[in-house]
Amino acid sequence: SEADKGIYPYYMLKEINEQPNVLRKLSQKYLSEDGQSKIDPKILEAMKAADRLYIVGAGTSYHAGLVGKNMFEKLVGIPTEVEVASEFAYADPLFSEKPFFIFLTQSGETADSRVVLQNVTKRGFPTLTITNVQNSTLSREADYTLLLDAGPEISVASTKAYTAQIALEAILAKSLGESLGLKRAADFNLRQQLGLVATGMQAVIDEKDHFDEVSKQYFVEASKAFYIGRGIDYYVSLEAALKLKEISYIIAEGFASGELKHGTIALIEEGTPVVAIATQAKTASLTRNNLEETKSRGAKTFTISTESLAEDGDDIVLQDVDEMLTPLLSVVPAQLLAYYTSLNKGLNVDRPRNLAKSVTVE
Ligand code: G6P
Repeated sequence: SEADKGIYPYYMLKEINEQPNVLRKLSQKYLSEDGQSKIDPKILEAMKAADRLYIVGAGTSYHAGLVGKNMFEKLVGIPTEVEVASEFAYADPLFSEKPFFIFLTQSGETADSRVVLQNVTKRGFPTLTITNVQNSTLSREADYTLLLDAGPEISVASTKAYTAQIALEAILAKSLGESLGLKRAADFNLRQQLGLVATGMQAVIDEKDHFDEVSKQYFVEASKAFYIGRGIDYYVSLEAALKLKEISYIIAEGFASGELKHGTIALIEEGTPVVAIATQAKTASLTRNNLEETKSRGAKTFTISTESLAEDGDDIVLQDVDEMLTPLLSVVPAQLLAYYTSLNKGLNVDRPRNLAKSVTVE
C-alpha cells in the first residue's frame, strides 16, 4: 500500500524521495497542460474580495506559510500576514476589513490551528484549509478545502507536506493573480517551473550518499548548528533547523544572517557548523559575507546556492528555478542532512522523542 515503507529503512527517506512525484501530481491536478488554473473558481472569487490574507499554521506548516507570503504579495498584490496558530489564537488581533484566512495543516487536526479557525468563523470571515487529509477536522470546518494529495505522511518530521504546501500556495497565488488580471501572474509559467523543480529535487536526492558523508563531517559530533539566510532563504533556514532539532536533537537555529552580528554570533565557537542558503540574487552576497564573519570566528561553513549565483567552493549548487520557488529545492539538502544525522547517531528517525505527528491539544 501507499503507507508501506517498502525498501526504505525509514518513512522519512521514502517521503523525501517521493517529493518530485508529489509536485508533478499536484501540478497536473491544479494546472492544465497549457498552464490554466483548475482551482475551484468559487475559492478564487472569495479570495478576490479580500483586502488582506492571513496564513495560519503550526510547526512546519507555519514555515510553509512564511514562504507563501512572498508569492501572494508578488503575484496577487494583496498584503499577506503569516501567523503561528497558538499565538494568533490569543493575540486579539486587529483584523483588516475584509480578511481571508488560509489554514495550512498537513493533518487537518492541529488544535492550535483549529482554535483560530473557530474564532474567525464565529466572526463570519471566509476560510480555506490546505491539507493532506480529506475530511479532516479543519477541512470540514472551513468554507473551502484544497487537498495536497501527497499520500500519507507517516514520519513525524514533515517533508513532502512542506514542499507540497509551498507548491500549492504558488498555484493558488498564480491562479488568483491571473484572475485579478495581473500580468506578472499570467506570465508566470508555473507548470513548466514545477517541472524544473521536480528535476532539480531529483538531482539533489540522487546525491544522497554525499549528504550521509556531510552529516558525519559537520553534524554528528556537533551540539549546536545554524542555518542562515535572508528573506525566503531565512524562512527555509527555520525549517532546516527544525528538521535537525526534531530528529537529531542538535540545538539548531535558523537565523536571519544579517541579524547574527547583533548578538547571536557570540554563540559561534571553533567547529560550530553554519550552513548558508543563498538562492536570491538581491541578498546572496550579503549572506555570503555574514557566513564569512562566522568562519573567521571558527565556524565550519557550508554553502547552498543556485547555478546562476554559484561561486567556487560552494558545497551544494541547486539547479536554477524561479527565485520564488527555490525553497522547494533548498530544503531538500537540509531534510537529507537531518535524516542522515539522526540515522548516524543511531536514533529512531521516524519516531523522535517527545513529539507526535499531530497534536490535538492546545
Ligand atoms: C506537529 C508535528 C509537526 C507539524 C505540526 C503541525 O507538531 O510534529 O511536524 O509541523 O504538528 O501539524 P499540521 O498537521 O497542522 O501541519
